[in-house]
Amino acid sequence: MKIAVGSDHAGYRIKEAIKKYLQNHNYKFYDFGTHDEQPVDYVDFGEFVAKSVSTGNFSRGILICGTGIGMSIVANKFKGVKAALCHDEFTAKMSREHNDSNVLTIGGRVVDEEKALKIVDIWLKTPFLGGRHERRVDKISLIDEKNFK
Ligand code: RB5
Repeated sequence: MKIAVGSDHAGYRIKEAIKKYLQNHNYKFYDFGTHDEQPVDYVDFGEFVAKSVSTGNFSRGILICGTGIGMSIVANKFKGVKAALCHDEFTAKMSREHNDSNVLTIGGRVVDEEKALKIVDIWLKTPFLGGRHERRVDKISLIDEKNFK
């Protein structure tokens, strides 16, 4: 699993903590920035990460902004990207089991570092359940096909 990581200034600190977690757990990842707390536009970093997942260069993406909302809006504009904004372990688990999410977005001003790492941990470890959920996720892909013709 290759993970693309990105944030704006409001998500920078949580991104750095997530990078340490990924390093400690031997995940392969690339940091698309931002690289400090100077104000930047979340849209740019959301685009870098979502594009890299959409093209297949990375299998997963993790994006952090202040609320996680802007990043999820941007990421879901890209074909094949299923971005899920998760605020707790339950939504992180469901987003994998039911929605097969491939991009996780987190609000750096919503959750603390400890909670963010728990969200990342469960999101990375939880498999997609398939079954009845497969049919629903396939329907999402059909919408993608229509929109990106
Ligand atoms: C930046 O102030 C903030 O708007 C951004 O981090 C994010 O929350 C957008 O959705």
